[in-house]
Amino acid sequence: MPIKNKSVVITGAGSGIGAFIAKAFSQKGANVSLLDINEEGLNNSYDEINKMGRICLKQKIDITSKNDVFGAGNTIINKFGKIDVWINCAGISIIIPFLECTEEIWDKTLAVNLKGMYLGCQCAVSKMLKNGGGSIINFSSQSGKKGGARYQAYCASKAGVIGLTQSVAVEFAKQNIRVNAICPGVVKTPMWDRQIGDYAQKRKLKPEEVMPYFCGTIPMGRVCEYQEVADLAFYLAGEKSSYITGQAINLTGGSLMS
Ligand SMILES: NC(=O)c1ccc[n+]([C@@H]2O[C@H](COP(=O)([O-])OP(=O)(O)OC[C@H]3O[C@@H](n4cnc5c(N)ncnc54)[C@H](O)[C@@H]3O)[C@@H](O)[C@H]2O)c1
Repeated sequence: MPIKNKSVVITGAGSGIGAFIAKAFSQKGANVSLLDINEEGLNNSYDEINKMGRICLKQKIDITSKNDVFGAGNTIINKFGKIDVWINCAGISIIIPFLECTEEIWDKTLAVNLKGMYLGCQCAVSKMLKNGGGSIINFSSQSGKKGGARYQAYCASKAGVIGLTQSVAVEFAKQNIRVNAICPGVVKTPMWDRQIGDYAQKRKLKPEEVMPYFCGTIPMGRVCEYQEVADLAFYLAGEKSSYITGQAINLTGGSLMS
């Protein structure tokens, strides 16, 4: 079991993909640390993992704050002694016509989606250097590889995540720290529940027509399952991907091929 007893940190662990991945890693025997700004979501994930009979750590943090991120890193080292895997999953998404995109929306999106990942990577690397290496997984998106109308700030931030991932990967490859990005297509999470109305407006659809519309555009004819994201994260976290670093891997059912 390559994941068993590993110390795995997940940002955005209070909702959606991050919450699912946290439970999945815990089920496989990892010691998981849950980080999120949303206390209620964080508590739900924490309780579910405790009910599984597993220990974990939770910490309410804002990933855009260096103090919060590095403070959490120190707390995790005090509890679990090391950090083997750091998964930067927290993110926000706003769909808005370009001419209506305010500086606030731009700054917030870039702060959470890009600065937050830079701080997460920096904290993870500083700890991993002390225990002989590790694996960092950053959540980019298919929108990090291909722009989309009304999606300027999100696409820019997710493209930035790929640049960050490649740069940190090259700098620390010899120290056995691997850094990769996952680029999902559509996963039906609370993020989509919130933005489905805005997407429907962009395509002139009814909200209930959006998911069937996506399925019609995806070669595999369906959106991505949570488990499929967790399976790629397991792979990138474990030794089976030991020669893979600096990659931004599409998880899009064939929608993107480069
Ligand atoms: N759902 C999709 O279709 C999809 C597709 C491609 C990429 N992604 C990426 O996957 C990741 C997870 O997305 P999701 O759909 O599960 O979203 P979600 O909204 O369900 O969960 C995101 C979590 O991030 C947390 N968060 C937001 N700002 C934060 C901050 N400043 N500090 C700490 N935590 C913060 C939220 O509280 C929330 O719990 C995101 O990075 C997203 O961009 C999602």
